[in-house]
This record gives sequence, C-alpha cells and structure tokens, in this order.
Amino acid sequence: MDMLKAVPLFSSLNNKQLKALAKTATDQTYKPGDVLVAEGKQGVGFYLVAQGQVAVEKGGKTVASLGPGQFFGEMALIDEQPRSATVKAVGPTRCLVVTRWDFWGTVAKDPEVLRVLLRETVRRLREAKPGPED
Ligand code: CMP
Repeated sequence: MDMLKAVPLFSSLNNKQLKALAKTATDQTYKPGDVLVAEGKQGVGFYLVAQGQVAVEKGGKTVASLGPGQFFGEMALIDEQPRSATVKAVGPTRCLVVTRWDFWGTVAKDPEVLRVLLRETVRRLREAKPGPED
C-alpha cells in the first residue's frame, strides 16, 4: 500500500482505490540477471519497480534503465501483442506485479491513471533512438 502510494502513476488514486489495487498486486523479488519479461513472448503482467534497477533490451541492445517508482509491461497489456523488449534485473530487484485485468480495473475507476501512463509512454517514445530502417 505504501509502495503503491509512492508511485507517481497511482498518485491520483484515493485510499480505497489503492487498497483494492494492493490486494491484487503480488510482491516479487528477482536476482541480478533474472529475465522479468522476454521480448516476443506473450504476457499479462504490469510491473512497478519498488526497489533496484531493471534494464530494457531490444534486439540485445539496452534502450533504457528503469528504477524505483517506474513501470514497464504496459505495452502488451494495451495492444495484447507480444512483449516489445526484454526486461532484466540489474541488481537485486523487487517489483509489484498486477495482472492485465486488475490493471484495467484500476484505470476504469480513475482515468487520470491513463493520462499519467500515456504521458510516460510519450516521453519514452520521444527519447527512443531511431532504428536502422528509419
Ligand atoms: P511490453 O512490450 O509489455 O514489455 C516490454 C516493456 O519494456 C514494454 O512493455 C515497456 O514497458 C518497456 N519498454 C519498451 N521499450 C522501451 C523504451 N524505449 N524505453 C523504456 N521502456 C521501454
């Protein structure tokens, strides 16, 4: 609950909404090098980094690193396509994981979550380096 409260994405949720989300989230720990999400695979998890650091890799190249308060795994939840990147734990890492269904349940209760999610997605898009074909 305290962890979720500190996440900018969920800052607009009230205590009741946070409590409902906390009930559905699982607290997972990972060792350095663990693969949390694999590029090209299907997945239903939305991840919030609680502690540690993860690396986002596309085609074997690191494109971003994410730390506490940041999220990943939203893309496959939105378009139901395979994961766009591999996400690996850099050091010992702890994440809160919410399923697709619980994530959309939270969004339905407060569309402000969607606005924050989109703002971050657009920021990542602006920062993304063009590929060789661009
Ligand atoms: P998804 O495609 O579900 O799984 C891999 C995740 O890596 C993806 O969702 C995003 O959350 C994240 N991701 C992909 N590309 C980038 C990027 N350029 N910068 C930051 N995160 C990314």
